[in-house]
Amino acid sequence: MHLPSISILLPLAAAATAQSTSPLTIVTAPSSGYTYHGCYNETTGLPDTAGMRALGGGTNLVRAGNMTVEMCWEFCRSGAGDASGGKTGKFLFAGVEYARECWCAQALSSLSEKVPDSECNLPCEGNTTQACGGNLKLTVYMAGAAAARVSWAIGLVAVGAMSLALI
Ligand SMILES: *[C@@H]1O[C@H](CO)[C@@H](O)[C@H](O)[C@H]1NC(C)=O
Ligand SMILES: *[C@@H]1O[C@H](CO)[C@@H](O)[C@H](O)[C@H]1NC(C)=O
Ligand SMILES: *[C@@H]1O[C@H](CO)[C@@H](O)[C@H](O)[C@H]1NC(C)=O
Repeated sequence: MHLPSISILLPLAAAATAQSTSPLTIVTAPSSGYTYHGCYNETTGLPDTAGMRALGGGTNLVRAGNMTVEMCWEFCRSGAGDASGGKTGKFLFAGVEYARECWCAQALSSLSEKVPDSECNLPCEGNTTQACGGNLKLTVYMAGAAAARVSWAIGLVAVGAMSLALI
């Protein structure tokens, strides 16, 4: 009975070649306001959670053929509730999943766990050099660290101005 095992192996081989052979870039850009948080697993498959998402309660965008990490950052930079009750606030978390999905949320589910970066192995459909999560895996970014960098830079400018004044 060789034929059944062949017919099972073929789809697996086809799936493997669909993934990128060269390592994917985990895109980072301090100017985006988001920093890389890690590769996390999706929680929809867990029993008794009603399909709850790792990045749920926010908003999402699906762009087949066009998704990039930059597009997701841009999308998650607004749309959250702000102090005046508007929707111009930034989501704390942005995550790309399944090559084409972007998820924005104010919290990352505690049921979602960090997995090795290599499990976020699907290229973004809008830029195939970039890592865009995986099958039920998210490449997660978190806002905040860039703000710390900005105040550090302002501190440097202040120190620079002071030493200039001393001269
Ligand atoms: C996420 O990954 C961790 C570590 O591999 C595993 O223990 C956990 O069961 C996974 N959770 C889901 C929802 O797949
Ligand atoms: C992808 O981008 C192209 C070029 O900007 C646009 O024409 C197309 O409608 C986009 N596709 C989707 C699904 O957004
Ligand atoms: C695709 O992503 C890579 C890695 O972030 C970047 O260097 C490159 O400029 C991007 N290509 C385009 C066309 O935006």
